[in-house]
Amino acid sequence: MKVTKAVIPAAGLGTRVLPATKSMPKEMLPIVDKPAIQYIVEEAVHSGITDILIITNRGKGLIEDHFDRVPELEARLTKSGPEKEAILKEIVGIAHKANFYFVRQKETLGLGHAVGCAKSFVGNEPFAVLYGDDVIIGKDPACGQLIRAYEEYGKGVLGVKKVSAESIGRYSSLKVEPLKGNCFSCTDMIEKPTPDKVLSLYSILGRCILPPEIFDILDQTKPGTGGEIQLTDAMRTLARRDGMLAVEYSGTRYDMGNKLGIMKAQVEVGLNHPEIGPEFRAYLKEICKAL
Ligand code: UTP
Repeated sequence: MKVTKAVIPAAGLGTRVLPATKSMPKEMLPIVDKPAIQYIVEEAVHSGITDILIITNRGKGLIEDHFDRVPELEARLTKSGPEKEAILKEIVGIAHKANFYFVRQKETLGLGHAVGCAKSFVGNEPFAVLYGDDVIIGKDPACGQLIRAYEEYGKGVLGVKKVSAESIGRYSSLKVEPLKGNCFSCTDMIEKPTPDKVLSLYSILGRCILPPEIFDILDQTKPGTGGEIQLTDAMRTLARRDGMLAVEYSGTRYDMGNKLGIMKAQVEVGLNHPEIGPEFRAYLKEICKAL
């Protein structure tokens, strides 16, 4: 079955990026001139997704506004003539990239609970989950790489990368066996393992394709690490029962949920930016001399 629906959970509190996220969703933090969530939506659209549900909460109206039209702004840009034509086209285009839907997660009970809010949107189809604070930049969209694996094997797919032994305790850890190329089979996983519980250094980073059966499992999933309903715990039940796939996707992942990740994204995307790239490179070279 084709995967055409995606869910972007964006209802977290963003406590690691306070005070920036006191009233502004972290998913709206820009990388140079584009909010993180727009990069994520574009990745989904380039992967063949046509319908996107964004899970929001109180104070996340900014996200809805970003994917809507702004007649006053458009009128002003139109008046400005040919010089503003490209940006006008881009601004209008944002609202038409996909069919957008929004639902509120009424309490911040964890990523698993947030995904559970997508049940009626998803219905009986497989769907993609793109974590709202993980921006992945690469030639071949990461979500599309996972969708291809789903279409080949017909099982839930996890987007993974290797992380360091020192940091695995902050992520999930997967039990994997090589299958083909960058594809592994996955039969177990654990969220934020203590050193004696690490299964491997492969961790789920930001993307997965899930079958609709996940919703019944989520309904049964009790709060786990941090007292939150963990998506990893529900996926562990699925992996143990039916098996899942893990795809080590290509592309660079930026964690927009922490300060260092945000700075790395700014620098690397800034260096390749068509408008400011060359000037920014010269500036960085200059200040690096003094480091
Ligand atoms: P995180 O655990 O990184 O988000 O969830 P957080 O809770 O905002 O982070 P900190 O630790 O307080 O800084 C990953 C993704 O899941 C969403 C977040 O918005 C983020 O995009 N999320 C998390 C929800 O939508 N609802 C939740 O209850 C928790």
